[in-house]
Parts: sequence; structure tokens; C-alpha cells
Amino acid sequence: MTLTTTPFGMRATAAEVLRGVDLRGRRMIVTGGSSGLGVETVRALAGAGAEVTIATRNPAAADALLKELPGTRAVALDLADLASVRAFCEGWSGPLDALVANAGVMMLPTRQVSAEGWEAQLATNYLGHFALAAGLRDPLRQAERPRVVAVSSGAQLRAGFDFDDPQFERRPYDPFLAYAQSKTALVLFAVGIGRRWAEDGIEANSCAPGWIHTNLTRHLDTATMQALGAMDADGALLTPDYYKTPAQGAATTVLLAASPLLDGVSGRYFEDNQEAEVVDGGPDPMAGVARWSVDPAAADRLWDLSLSVAR
Ligand SMILES: NC(=O)c1ccc[n+]([C@@H]2O[C@H](COP(=O)([O-])OP(=O)(O)OC[C@H]3O[C@@H](n4cnc5c(N)ncnc54)[C@H](OP(=O)(O)O)[C@@H]3O)[C@@H](O)[C@H]2O)c1
Repeated sequence: MTLTTTPFGMRATAAEVLRGVDLRGRRMIVTGGSSGLGVETVRALAGAGAEVTIATRNPAAADALLKELPGTRAVALDLADLASVRAFCEGWSGPLDALVANAGVMMLPTRQVSAEGWEAQLATNYLGHFALAAGLRDPLRQAERPRVVAVSSGAQLRAGFDFDDPQFERRPYDPFLAYAQSKTALVLFAVGIGRRWAEDGIEANSCAPGWIHTNLTRHLDTATMQALGAMDADGALLTPDYYKTPAQGAATTVLLAASPLLDGVSGRYFEDNQEAEVVDGGPDPMAGVARWSVDPAAADRLWDLSLSVAR
């Protein structure tokens, strides 16, 4: 299989990736658009002319961004509550050109559950986004070239989806494994859309943003931050040279959401603005997409499981 390549390297910013791309008249949703990578995603898409809706638990948190970017709006959405997802979908009217599933939580220290009783990282990062996309399928169909972007992570390399115990009910809860599994689910989600919704003209891809300092690490303790090389012995943040700025971290997301370079590409996983090679997942690989994350049988199985939950 030929991998999709682009002229953009890992240091390209989101604005650079969209230079010359005219998104006027396009309507897009960015979940978690009021923080971290979401802010830069919104800036780049709106900067290219898109009408962006920021879907966030706390719309007031987007006030400054809305002032900076006229034509952008913020609407309440809690991905860990399917009633909130339904309300969001019911409030949407007209075509939707791109749904960017960017919001996420990482490594909740103890096992928490969503409004429906699902393990909270899986519920927030994956299931809520599945329900959101399912609820917005008709508006997506109405757009000319609709796209879904699933913001995953290199963590998908570390754990496949455990269909026997997806919610850590029988195995001990592991904050990192739960995050990794949810990020694998997002890659499978894009594969699933590629398999199930191609007839609607809906294209979906997933990506890893790289390493970027944001609020995502809010649940990590000092020892974990130090083990990641992101904090020194005195608790000061470190920025190793492989870290990106938020504007660089949002580049692959906007590439998948809006670049014409991706026309006709679906069900694939990207990192550093290039399609990634398929590798064996496990403790060692630092790049690529795990075989278990793009396994079509796993994507079909997860799709059916998700449909049964997110009705
Ligand atoms: N930063 C990195 O190095 C890195 C690496 C790999 C992947 N990623 C992925 O990139 C995405 C963006 O993360 P970030 O680094 O920008 O982190 P961030 O600054 O913490 O942003 C995450 C966003 O998700 C939102 N969110 C959390 N729970 C939610 C819920 N229940 N309903 C709706 N929104 C919710 C947060 O909203 P609140 O402000 O209301 O909490 C926040 O806006 C995530 O999917 C993350 O897994 C990031």
C-alpha cells in the first residue's frame, strides 16, 4: 500500500499547512476547542475562513478566542454524558464539512465512570465522539466533501482494544493503559468510518499530534512527568527537542480536516503530517501505527459494540 505523503515536516504549523486553502463557507466543529491544541486548530481553520463551532464543557472558557475570531461560536458539550451529546446534535442544523474529535483526557489516576457508567477515558475520548459523529451523520452527508478527524496519540502503539474487558472491570485499572486503549479506539473509529460511511462520501482519518505541553498532563504526578523527561528534579517544566509548539501540534489535525492533499484518503493514520507505517504495537516503537489499531476486523467489532452503547 502506498503511504500518503505531504510536503510538510514535523515543524510545520497549522497555519502553514492551510496556507492558500480557502475554507470560506465551510462549517466545522472542533471538540475541546477552547484549550491547548484545540485552540490552535480553531485558529488555523477559522484563519482560513471556516465557520468554526467550538464544542466545550465550558463555553465561557472560549470567550477570548471568540473575540479574536469573529464568526466562531462556542456550544456546550460534555462527551462523557450521552444526553449532552444528543442535545448538541439536536441543536445542529445544516451541513457539516468537518468534525474534529480533538477533546480528550489523559491518565485519570483512579477509575472513574461516565454518566452512563463507562470507564471515563474510553467514554470521553472515544465513545462520546462516536455518538457525536453518529448523531451528526446526516449533516455530514449534506456537505460536499465531509471529513471526520480522530485525534489519537502515539499511545495507541502501547495497547490494543481489549474486547474482553474494555472497562477495566476484571483487570486492575491502569491509567495509562486506559488512555492508550481509548486512543487505539479512535484510530479504529476512523477505519470504521472508512468502511461503513464511504457510501455517504464521508472520509475519516486519525492522527497523533506529537508531544506538546498543554493542560492534558493535569492528572500526571511529578514522578511521571520526570520519567517522561518533561520535568526536572525541581519540578520545572522541561521541553525536550522532540516537543512541538501547540501550533505545530495542531498541524496534522488541520491537514486531515481541510487540506485538499487529503482528498480521497480515508481510514488512515498520520503523524508529523505524513501517513504512518504499520508496525507491531508493543513497548518499543516510537512511531508508526500499530497493526491492532488499523485491523479491519477490530474496527468492525468496535463499531458494533459502540452502536449498542451509543444509541
Ligand atoms: N498534548 C500532547 O502532547 C498530546 C499528545 C498526544 C495526543 N494528544 C491529544 O490531543 C487532544 C487535545 O489535547 P490537548 O493536549 O490540547 O489537551 P488539553 O489542553 O487538556 O485539551 C483537552 C480538551 O478536551 C476537553 N475535554 C475533556 N473532557 C471533556 C469532556 N468530557 N467533554 C468535552 N470536552 C472535554 C477539555 O475541556 P476542559 O477544558 O473543559 O477540560 C479540553 O478543552 C487530546 O485528544 C489528546 O489526547 C495530545
